[in-house]
Amino acid sequence: RKRVLSGMQPSGLMHLGNYLGALENWKALQEDYECFFFVADWHALSTNYADTSRIREFVRELLIDWLAAGIDPKRSTVFIQSHIPEHAVLHLLLSMMVPVSWLERNPTYKEKQDEIKEKDLSTYGFLGYPVLQAADILLYKPDFVPVGKDQLPHLELTRELARRFNDIYKKPVFPEPKEHLTKFPKVLGTDGRKMSKSYGNTINLSDTEPVVRQKLKTMVTDPARVRRTDPGNPDVCPVYEFHKIYSPPAVQAQINTDCRTAAIGCIDCKKLVADEIVARMAPMWEARASLISHPSRIDEIAQEGSQRAAIIAKATLAEVNEAMKI
Ligand code: TRP
Repeated sequence: RKRVLSGMQPSGLMHLGNYLGALENWKALQEDYECFFFVADWHALSTNYADTSRIREFVRELLIDWLAAGIDPKRSTVFIQSHIPEHAVLHLLLSMMVPVSWLERNPTYKEKQDEIKEKDLSTYGFLGYPVLQAADILLYKPDFVPVGKDQLPHLELTRELARRFNDIYKKPVFPEPKEHLTKFPKVLGTDGRKMSKSYGNTINLSDTEPVVRQKLKTMVTDPARVRRTDPGNPDVCPVYEFHKIYSPPAVQAQINTDCRTAAIGCIDCKKLVADEIVARMAPMWEARASLISHPSRIDEIAQEGSQRAAIIAKATLAEVNEAMKI
């Protein structure tokens, strides 16, 4: 079987946007591939080295989100980056051969600096973020790395580093991984902007049913539809975007018509979509409750995963040391 590897930063609670964008894809991949999924806790330091007070909690929450969503630790190897010191060792070795100019021209380096003003991004660790990511990937020699298109420059750098290493040491240690592009559906938050933790407009996987229903109840709709009797426009209504994701096509079509003719009001329309979303989240809530009632289970899964991951990471690092005569 071909191998897949991907990681996520533990930067907070997962929401429906993250779920539909990444996790659902991971879940499908574990049917056909040997999968490695890890929590990139060291990467979280690259933008947040000073405030680490909640990092362990976020790591744990992320694992719970994955497992509750259906990542199956029997089929997939689930682990935590900082449990495998080989990631740091390979990062160090790659840092010796990566030209600083490759890192400075990395588009996410510039973009993030313009975007995030409240954090210190002037560090060596932040510049080297993609080198650590390359180490994460190359250690496991995956065939595919599922990522969103924002990560493509990092994957390209990973391939460039693989080629450079193989050329310099005259040994084909690292195969070049391919991207497995995740199509991110348009998921809007409760305020109508893109669903994002930084906007505070998310529906989280860990929200309870009453919270999810309440958030949908107060979600913005077509701003031009003021009274119940006003006709609405689904094309500009964020709630309709949820229908497009969660409701059966016949229901979508019906709502589209009924909204335009004011045959349905926003309250009823929201109730319909809330029922669909709740039905999709219910199995996750059940799994979450069972995980939380056996807290040691989560540690066991992470430990088993780290053991499996370590075997591969150590084997690759041994090849690297051999090729470099270290
Ligand atoms: N940079 C990725 C992100 O922010 C997370 C990540 C770290 C990753 N290491 C990785 C993804 C290795 C894929 C493979 O989403």
